[in-house]
Amino acid sequence: MQKLFGVIGDPIGHSMSPAIHNDAFSHQNIQASYHAFHVKEQHLEDAVKGFKAIGISGFNVTVPHKTAIIPFLDEMDELAEAIGAVNTVKNENGKLIGYNTDGPGYVAALKEEMNSPLRDKKTLIIGAGGAARGIYYSLVYEGVSHIDICNRTIEKAEKLIHDCPYKATSAALSMHAAAEKLSQYDLIIQTTSIGMSPNTHASPLTLENVNQEAFVSDIIYNPLKTAFLQEAETRGTKIQNGIGMFVYQGALAFQIWTGVFPDTKRMKKIVLEKLGGTIC
Ligand code: ATR
Repeated sequence: MQKLFGVIGDPIGHSMSPAIHNDAFSHQNIQASYHAFHVKEQHLEDAVKGFKAIGISGFNVTVPHKTAIIPFLDEMDELAEAIGAVNTVKNENGKLIGYNTDGPGYVAALKEEMNSPLRDKKTLIIGAGGAARGIYYSLVYEGVSHIDICNRTIEKAEKLIHDCPYKATSAALSMHAAAEKLSQYDLIIQTTSIGMSPNTHASPLTLENVNQEAFVSDIIYNPLKTAFLQEAETRGTKIQNGIGMFVYQGALAFQIWTGVFPDTKRMKKIVLEKLGGTIC
């Protein structure tokens, strides 16, 4: 019988996940199909129960359900539990198990594009929301030993560092303080929504003091090159947009469900075709 997979979220209409997963299933000769389901907050519990009742094999979870879904799952993977957010669920013999592939997906994409060891990189994360949490925890889990976080609301950066069960040397900074000492960082990761379409001229902080040798990354992929990345490029640093994170979170979910790591180049090509651009 054909296996069923999907993604739930609100809104969900523009999700690129069905395109990348359905292509990967057919490319790997796996009899399965993947659909987008529009699930409103008040229907989340019923939707999860329904998925369980019909024996769905697995699904992705996106905004706004990544934390709210946790009480409706049977088990949690260690990293997902620590992050407190789930973007991938696997049905194992009727038990729904929650995973987080957003943070590990980001790290996998970073390793591929940076092409030099991560552990010793003095890192700055801009933002302290859900995405920053997944990335911070995954980088610390990976062994990166020095990661500062700057945020408009500094208390949220302090809390994020404090809550993390894995330890690193970290300071919570104001945006201004981070901009002042920017030259100290080898890796700068922008995780806020600042600069996302339609507000494409906005940037979280000036890169005036950036070290030319630094690697500057932005998790936004629409636009493909944010104002922040444009400034970084102008100042001579290497840059990375959010396509890799999106592709690798999908690839790692696919691997959890099927045991097969899919062709990420195919996935990237599909995403780029949908967004209508070339990778930076
Ligand atoms: P996500 O799950 O995508 O990370 P989130 O949890 O709502 O979303 O977090 C959004 C992040 O973007 C936060 O770090 C937020 O800063 P605050 O904690 O101070 O709210 C940051 N952010 C969003 N809009 C911003 C703006 N206009 N200026 C500065 N920071 C902003």
